[in-house]
Amino acid sequence: MIRHLCLVGYGAMGQSLVGCWAKQPSPMIEKVTIVSPHEVDTKSVMGTGISEAIWVSSEDIHTLDFHEVDILLFAVKPQVLPLVLPVYGQHVAGLADPKTLLIASIAAGVAMDTYAYHFPHSPFVRVMPNTPVQVGQGMSALMGNKHCEEMHDTLINQLFMPTGHVLWLDKEAYFDAVTAISGSGPAYVYLLGEALEAAGKKLGLPAEISETLAKHTLQGAGAMAGTSYDPLRALRTQVTSPGGTTAAALDVLMENETFTTLVENAVIAAHNRSQELK
Ligand SMILES: NC(=O)c1ccc[n+]([C@@H]2O[C@H](COP(=O)([O-])OP(=O)(O)OC[C@H]3O[C@@H](n4cnc5c(N)ncnc54)[C@H](OP(=O)(O)O)[C@@H]3O)[C@@H](O)[C@H]2O)c1
Repeated sequence: MIRHLCLVGYGAMGQSLVGCWAKQPSPMIEKVTIVSPHEVDTKSVMGTGISEAIWVSSEDIHTLDFHEVDILLFAVKPQVLPLVLPVYGQHVAGLADPKTLLIASIAAGVAMDTYAYHFPHSPFVRVMPNTPVQVGQGMSALMGNKHCEEMHDTLINQLFMPTGHVLWLDKEAYFDAVTAISGSGPAYVYLLGEALEAAGKKLGLPAEISETLAKHTLQGAGAMAGTSYDPLRALRTQVTSPGGTTAAALDVLMENETFTTLVENAVIAAHNRSQELK
């Protein structure tokens, strides 16, 4: 069980993560301190997975005792980090033993060197999650720095495994591609769902029926992709009888590799943008 997590930033991602942890069937975090400029209703944060929650205004972080914190997790926008990191860096520098506090961040596009400048002796883990963490179906890629020991890897695994799948990387350069695939990926999948929904309506289905069919097709196909040991290609061929309806649709989608090329170009655009944002 994690004794004390301090979460800096309680926006879309912060709330998604906390929502997932709070719903865990048994206690996983004893205490969560949420640092946010906006007051947080801490009663709504607590649940079976979180025993105690407090809110600290971002103006009042001097009131925090970092000796008591196990994990300090940054979930603010990347552009806010330059304002925030020096302040936390000063507090962490006052720790007798920096190894007692694991620092982590989910900020997209911010290199580990940036954190090393402010927390030179601290164990640090860079994490790239995605929004399905909210329902415990996220995909989080992680990488630790040279100060991380087994206990720190265990601690961060305890935090992120309940939010979905966890994948450790051994090269920081992979993060831009990870951001372009799994970080932004849910949006591409929703777009495919929207296209299915629109096609259903064009074929005369009422809007609600079309929406239900599209959403549950994404859900079912996603669940099969996530639980099957078969590669995606095998899952596709299993539902494609020669000369059948699926084959007719795939003939259109796969003609001249149009669909694959379009997706590749989209992912490359996201990758390039991730590099530009640094
Ligand atoms: N959304 C995604 O799909 C996704 C996926 C992977 C990673 N990420 C990363 O997750 C991080 C958070 O993204 P998000 O979508 O949750 O952003 P968000 O909704 O804007 O949340 C950030 C929160 O931090 C607050 N904040 C600003 N200054 C602060 C301070 N000094 N101390 C504490 N909190 C402060 C903001 O308040 P104000 O609104 O008042 O400024 C806001 O409530 C980003 O770095 C992003 O790159 C996001």
